Amino acid sequence: MITVDSVAGLRDQVTRLRQGGKRVAFVPTMGNLHAGHLRLMQEARQHAQVVVASIYLNPLQFGQDEDFDAYPRTPAHDKVALLSAGVDILFKPAEAEIYPRGHAAQTFIEVPGLSHDLCGAFRPKHFRGVATVVHRLFHMVAPDVAIFGKKDYQQWLIIRLMAADLGLPIEIVGVDTVREADGLALSSRNHYLSAVERKLAPALHETLCGLRDRVQRHGSVTTEAEEAAMESLKSHGFRPDYVSVRRQEDLAKPRPEDRRLVALAAAWLGNTRLIDNVEFES
Ligand code: PAF
Repeated sequence: MITVDSVAGLRDQVTRLRQGGKRVAFVPTMGNLHAGHLRLMQEARQHAQVVVASIYLNPLQFGQDEDFDAYPRTPAHDKVALLSAGVDILFKPAEAEIYPRGHAAQTFIEVPGLSHDLCGAFRPKHFRGVATVVHRLFHMVAPDVAIFGKKDYQQWLIIRLMAADLGLPIEIVGVDTVREADGLALSSRNHYLSAVERKLAPALHETLCGLRDRVQRHGSVTTEAEEAAMESLKSHGFRPDYVSVRRQEDLAKPRPEDRRLVALAAAWLGNTRLIDNVEFES
């Protein structure tokens, strides 16, 4: 695995490795890699002969009172994990490579509508920060395909919309969430949970599965069902931001005839904000 920290170095290496018409897959990450990330690397290998991963903790996608400073940074562990996952190039850009004119002067990419719904309603600049950094990284790596985890379902759809709207010739692939044995979705933020909170945390996934079952039983999505799921989360010690059932393709509110749905939630357990979702057919 080659590690590069400059855009010039990255472009040299990608150009060299893609010779002979090889396809390049890209997996952007913020580091603190776990089995969910490694699953993304495996998926990348299914789509291309060259796999590029990036580690960059993007300040622009964190709100002022959010956990940018506390976010776990584990560079030595990450390097070993990527090496064992067979990644070809690790791009670890310095801050000045990503935002050379500083954060305040940066041109933003913003996908309208969806960026302000669901998680975007609670984290107003989050998806603008995500779309901006992913667009920068896409421009630098110039991949044929990019891989995203579906735990961040809304992020995955926003990146798909951005790529379509800007005509980027990049296939955007979503990969199913990897879970602990008790159902908790793998996330770097799980490290923040106390032992007591960790025991409560699987209730997020269980509640979404319960909501899915209720919608499937009744054949329709109701506000009562979403509210009951919110109450269930509260009874397990969560402070939910939202629980909502949406259409898979665009996260719009479902019409009665829509069958491909996804139940999504974001909820706080102590100081940790967890998100999860369950796709289903009704
Ligand atoms: O999902 C993440 O880890 C981040 O939002 C991403 C896509 C790497 C952008 O910083």
